[in-house]
Amino acid sequence: MKRILFVCLGNICRSPMAETVMRKIVDDNNAADRYLVDSAGIIGYHEGEQADSRMRSFAFQRGYRITSISRPVSTDDFYNFDLIIGMDDDNIEALQRKAPKDSRAQISLMTDFCTDGAYSSVPDPYYGGAAGFTLVIDILEEACAALFESLEKRTK
Ligand code: 4NP
Repeated sequence: MKRILFVCLGNICRSPMAETVMRKIVDDNNAADRYLVDSAGIIGYHEGEQADSRMRSFAFQRGYRITSISRPVSTDDFYNFDLIIGMDDDNIEALQRKAPKDSRAQISLMTDFCTDGAYSSVPDPYYGGAAGFTLVIDILEEACAALFESLEKRTK
């Protein structure tokens, strides 16, 4: 079982989208029994809320339905997940600060799984326009496909 937690700042835009994209890839490959996929935020400001309505709407246009409810990262997450994936360098720094000393979770940057090197982060779309949201989906589709491929190679 591979346990993957996607993390962004608020857990209402990027990481719920990543969770949704990854779950679809896992389902499409009949691998749901081998993957646990979740998401969380560095901050708890939006705790209990649905994903941002703009993110849900752009996702819907691309065939995704986001059902995730925002929650902050907890200490338990560092024991309960194998892989914790941040969307930008700020997320990675915050995760490294939050990680307990005996955490065995691997903390990685989402775009490090992309092989073309076109992006070095999944940019925060919160204060921008439509283009930011569609870019988030574009990057995540590529990054999650590459992540899935690399994880499948490790098990075989
Ligand atoms: P996310 O976007 O980290 O992709 O969920 C944001 C959501 C909320 C805030 C910032 C970014 N905020 O400042 O409340």
